[in-house]
Amino acid sequence: MKFQAPIGMKDLTKESKLYRKLEDDFFSILTQESFTEIRTPILEDKKLYSRSVGESSDIVSKEMFETLDGLVLRPENTASVMRAFVNDSELCPRLAYFAPQFRKERPQKGRLRQFYQYGFEIIGDASPQAEIDSLLIIQKLYQKWGLTNYEIQVNFLGKKIDRENYINKLRTYLESCKEKLSNLSKERLEKNILRILDSKEESDQDIIKNAPIILDSLSEESKKQWQKILDLSSLLNIKLVINPLLVRGLDYYTGMVFEVVDTSGLLGSQKALGGGGRYDGLSKELGGQDLSAFGFAGGVERLIIATNLDNDKDQMKKIGFVTTEKSILNTLFALKKQTKDIIIDINVDTTIGFKKMFKRANKNNCEKVVIIGSDELANNTFKLKNMITGEEKICNYSYKEIVIKKLMDEE
Ligand code: HAM
Repeated sequence: MKFQAPIGMKDLTKESKLYRKLEDDFFSILTQESFTEIRTPILEDKKLYSRSVGESSDIVSKEMFETLDGLVLRPENTASVMRAFVNDSELCPRLAYFAPQFRKERPQKGRLRQFYQYGFEIIGDASPQAEIDSLLIIQKLYQKWGLTNYEIQVNFLGKKIDRENYINKLRTYLESCKEKLSNLSKERLEKNILRILDSKEESDQDIIKNAPIILDSLSEESKKQWQKILDLSSLLNIKLVINPLLVRGLDYYTGMVFEVVDTSGLLGSQKALGGGGRYDGLSKELGGQDLSAFGFAGGVERLIIATNLDNDKDQMKKIGFVTTEKSILNTLFALKKQTKDIIIDINVDTTIGFKKMFKRANKNNCEKVVIIGSDELANNTFKLKNMITGEEKICNYSYKEIVIKKLMDEE
């Protein structure tokens, strides 16, 4: 019986080199910004997410992989990081992660059931500096990864009381046009009213366009905080696009929320490259002190699609050696050790024959292959096959005189 990887989950083979590079880039920037890496358990108590992400959120209500004893595969990392911090307040308050997350969603382009996130959390900083620092870090990361086609959409959810006032206004408005709402939005009216604002249903669009916006329900204090962030970002040339309909699907947010949206069109309908915001109540909700916090997480797979990074153009070139002659191995391995910017793939086998070794070199994406059998060894020659053009020629000198770079460059 043959088994496939679970639906929406992938074996990473060719891609793992790229994941490692992205992870290295990520931590090299984050450590410069005084972050420490955190790795939390993949399983957590389900209640951790009902209390943080929210019982009625899509994630908690239908997207978690659950075990029989009340544990779930983590659907995101913010709640776990805060849980860890509440348990050990000696932890560095700037924590970063690059880790797999799990959501039982319907898979499509840019949407998987196991996906990686690069993310960071700043705990205990109530000043707008946390917002600004985060936005600058995100810009730095995207600059490093060559991502230019994106915009940062922002909204401000204010304090709990602002949100409650807003939800009342929104409910009155939506109830007045309930009949015209899609069935999904009718359901959300009861369970998760804010999510109606990011409905993609055609019939909801006009209703949403005319809905009251949260920015009009903010208290004077919240308005001031919001203005401070806008002023600072404009001072620092951080371009923000205000989207009054942006609510995000996780309940823990207060204050500023934002999403990095792909504008290249490469991502299809899954346009969110990343998202985050302020979540000042979460520490207390999880049994800790009343601490402010702000954070962000981006999706690795979406980043790869949006940047085309998987078409690794500057991948190292590869040359294969296939031989039946064990006596030449020392020389070949010495050559491999000396060669820095070209990969040497050595295939030596006296049992499987040239054909199979050749196939292996081909599978390993070798551009050229050097062939040395007993005849070539005796005559101080070797064969060179160009795997792209299929041409094969005899080189009339010994393998000991091979200069790899020259061999790769010659026609
Ligand atoms: P989120 O918006 O749920 O936020 O996820 C962040 C990013 O993870 C998304 O923008 C997307 O790029 C990626 N992502 C989410 N679901 C999938 C999926 N099924 N397949 C592929 N990629 C996906 C959070 O998770 C918050 N914890 C972010 C945060 C950190 N807020 C504060 N701190």
